Amino acid sequence: MHEIVMIYPVIVSNWKLYDAPLFQGLGKSQVDHVLGAMQPRHVRAGEYVFRMGDEGVSLYLVAEGRVHVFRNSIEGREKSLAFFSPGDVFGEMSLVEARPRSAHAIAFEDTVVLQLFADHYRHLIQRYPLLAHNLARIIAERLRRASEEVVLLSFENARVKMAHALLKLYHQRLGRATEHGWLIPETHKRLANHAGTSRETVTRVIREFKKEGLVEDHPQGVLLKDLEGLEAILWGL
Ligand code: CMP
Repeated sequence: MHEIVMIYPVIVSNWKLYDAPLFQGLGKSQVDHVLGAMQPRHVRAGEYVFRMGDEGVSLYLVAEGRVHVFRNSIEGREKSLAFFSPGDVFGEMSLVEARPRSAHAIAFEDTVVLQLFADHYRHLIQRYPLLAHNLARIIAERLRRASEEVVLLSFENARVKMAHALLKLYHQRLGRATEHGWLIPETHKRLANHAGTSRETVTRVIREFKKEGLVEDHPQGVLLKDLEGLEAILWGL
């Protein structure tokens, strides 16, 4: 049994974690109890939280920063799966299944994660069954998105792939709002990893999107100018 560390109220009071989907329907004192069973871990930008294949003994709740989850293809190409922000949970699959980690997780910026070990999780869900239900809902939503992605990407249409990748990054809040639109701070090479296509294809499609007023170049990446227009491409409207 891992030692329970009382991180509340020292750290958690400043973090708006009470609204996290994992805690939906739980009272403040119940959330405090769960948070008290979690171990904070600081991870510097570029450091791994864990690697694919590692033993999965815990799930993580992001308290600060951002985590990038990805896999590598056999040829070594990176395929981005998700970015996680404060309030998001990841690493739940290995915890529930008792199997190795299904992907790499790296801190995209300086990050603090709260780690909940399996023995604490099992103890807590007996006391708060809602916690397990919330986790099931999070997994269901992830499965829904993954199914959507499989359908969209099976069309092999580069414009759909790009629109999907850009909107996914926007919904995962990667980047920041500017007065000219949402800035995604990624190069064409990295966007190719997100969209599962080549760098050349990204450059060609971005050029088309620019002509259509959907995106613009920015010194730090790509500016999203017309989210509805990108949605329309995604759904063939
Ligand atoms: P786990 O397998 O423990 O470690 C990797 C984590 O990445 C996994 O749990 C999930 O939390 C997350 N993950 C894996 N695949 C996806 C996906 N397709 N979409 C979103 N998150 C994922």
